[in-house]
Amino acid sequence: MEDVPALLAFWDKAGENAGRPGDDAELTENLLLRDPDSIIIAESDGGIVGTVIAGWDGWRAHMYRLAVDPDSRGQGIGRRLTRAAEERLKSLGAVRFDAMVLSGNTAGEAAWEAMGYRPQNDWTRWIRFA
Ligand SMILES: CC(C)(COP(=O)(O)OP(=O)(O)OC[C@H]1O[C@@H](n2cnc3c(N)ncnc32)[C@H](O)[C@@H]1OP(=O)(O)O)[C@@H](O)C(=O)NCCC(=O)NCCS
Repeated sequence: MEDVPALLAFWDKAGENAGRPGDDAELTENLLLRDPDSIIIAESDGGIVGTVIAGWDGWRAHMYRLAVDPDSRGQGIGRRLTRAAEERLKSLGAVRFDAMVLSGNTAGEAAWEAMGYRPQNDWTRWIRFA
């Protein structure tokens, strides 16, 4: 819980932030209350250098907020975070992992592809705000 302000500041700096609602302390705290192990953090010298949320709702596995500090990219941190998320989700029963990537996010798309993911072009996400 005490990491939440630092997490929000990190996501503001390092996350894919276009086209999505902003992050929120209350929502992040609610996630930790519901599923305390869902946020996986990479640290260096006591600071956050990477994150991923490995979300499991009992039915599907979704990854959110895969982000690496701009100064620490290209060193395998994103891959290690993703593998840690996959291990957690698999141990909970997941048979498939997914992530939303903004169209045109070439670094994000290249990273997911390098890690064995492919786009699922025959589906479109439909949304309505609460
Ligand atoms: C996407 C992101 C998390 C990758 O993190 P990273 O720590 O640099 O990734 P890694 O060093 O672990 O690289 C993992 C693989 O992706 C590839 N990759 C990563 N960034 C890449 C880029 N910009 N162009 C091409 N390939 C890339 C790497 O080559 C590597 O593959 P390899 O092991 O076969 O060489 C990072 O760029 C980031 O935080 N971007 C902003 C947030 C974002 O867009 N997140 C993804 C959308 S959900």
